[in-house]
Amino acid sequence: MAPAGRAVRGTTTDRTRRSSLATRDNRTGREYEFPIEDGAVRALDLRQIKTNETDFGLLSYDPAFQNTAACRSAITFIDGDAGILRYRGYPIEELAERKTYLEVAYLLIYGRLPGKAELAEWLHNVTYHTMVHENVKKFMDGFHHDAHPMGMVVSTLAALSTFYPEAKEIRNEEFRQRQIHRLVGKMPTIAAFAYRHSVGMAYIYPDNDLSYTANFLAMMYRPSWTARYSPDPTLAKALDTLFVLHADHEQNCSTSTMRMVGSSLADPYVSSAAAAAALYGPLHGGANEQVVRMLQEIGSKDKVPALIRQVKSGKRKLMGFGHRVYKNFDPRAQIIKQIAESVFAVTGRNRLIDVALALEKAALSDDYFIKRRLYPNVDFYSGIIYQAMGFPMDIFPVLFAIPRMSGWLAHWQEMLTDPEQKIARPRQVYIGRGERHVPTKSTETE
Ligand code: CMC
Repeated sequence: MAPAGRAVRGTTTDRTRRSSLATRDNRTGREYEFPIEDGAVRALDLRQIKTNETDFGLLSYDPAFQNTAACRSAITFIDGDAGILRYRGYPIEELAERKTYLEVAYLLIYGRLPGKAELAEWLHNVTYHTMVHENVKKFMDGFHHDAHPMGMVVSTLAALSTFYPEAKEIRNEEFRQRQIHRLVGKMPTIAAFAYRHSVGMAYIYPDNDLSYTANFLAMMYRPSWTARYSPDPTLAKALDTLFVLHADHEQNCSTSTMRMVGSSLADPYVSSAAAAAALYGPLHGGANEQVVRMLQEIGSKDKVPALIRQVKSGKRKLMGFGHRVYKNFDPRAQIIKQIAESVFAVTGRNRLIDVALALEKAALSDDYFIKRRLYPNVDFYSGIIYQAMGFPMDIFPVLFAIPRMSGWLAHWQEMLTDPEQKIARPRQVYIGRGERHVPTKSTETE
């Protein structure tokens, strides 16, 4: 769909004249004309196309929603061919350079950059909600020691629904805002607790004097016998910028899931648990973990050609490459490459970066990737940075989920306040058997 812009005004007839699609149904010889608004026709208009009065009407068939806009959104704009990404109109490059993650989260959720007083109130509200109920700790204790942190995060988000029954009142603006504060505030705590549980270390409570990412790093790494922990400011800043880059990406798989589950009026805890589950998959937020596993398996630059051959023969995918929307370059990947250098200046160079650079170079000059317009995406370099910062690999998807929470909530709120939205319910093209009958006693021996 074209950039979410102003709706075309005027009567249906005016619009039809200005911009319309004329089509002929060769089954019946009838002709139809449908208005085009913002570069889209309404799928429901197609239902007028029938072969007879009892015909249900024409459906559009679109597996994996490759060409279907399910909503009108004013949050994030992407031009995949030009490599443009903007949140609420602001270029991602400017936001990454000049704004913190929490300012960007506010921008996504409320539509504008916060003024001084708004920012102070927002920071207060988020930090006020960083703690989790003691029973959440007990709940997390129940996980097996080697449980994947993303599995723990998904389950714990869903469990929060039972702690805040008021969250079900999704039409209550005050309650809705409170859940937004809780979810943004508690994500780093739940993520860090999942990590500490997996390594058998005591949970570290939030330190509300620290910034959002510094507090997260402290909850991850502070030895339990020390009272304070000050993470390296360069690393906290790098992580904050990575959070900005991951905060939203319009109708991706997890955000669409948030909208889908939320459309049944489920509360935001179970809705975001579902969104996090969608993010967990290796084709989505789980790709950053898979990239590092792949780079480790390659091991050295001289093994790159063999990997490329495997990919081209269809044996495997090049993880961290390709995107449904970006067909030229992913602007997030370009910013991440720059962050890598600032991180390595503190942590030392991750040797996998050389393998990654060699792999990128080989792929970008190979016909297979050129023809299919496959470029490094956000996940190609992020995992290498996370690894240099000391994060274990299975926490990488969690590092994607923490900032994406603000995007999910922005879309959830937009969906709830959009008068055109209803419970999401796609159609199907039935290809199964026609009616048949369960054998009776007399026929079943046949
Ligand atoms: N390696 C090798 N071939 C690929 C890759 C890849 N990473 N991605 C796409 N292709 C091929 C694909 O096999 C197909 O080839 P053919 O035309 O011969 O059948 C062609 O390129 C078109 O691909 P597609 O599967 O139609 O593309 P899609 O839009 O359905 O999938 C994608 C997008 C991101 C799922 C896919 O590119 C992929 O699996 N990439 C690897 C996983 C990954 O890095 N995911 C992170 C995405 S960015 C972060 C996020 O939003 O979560």
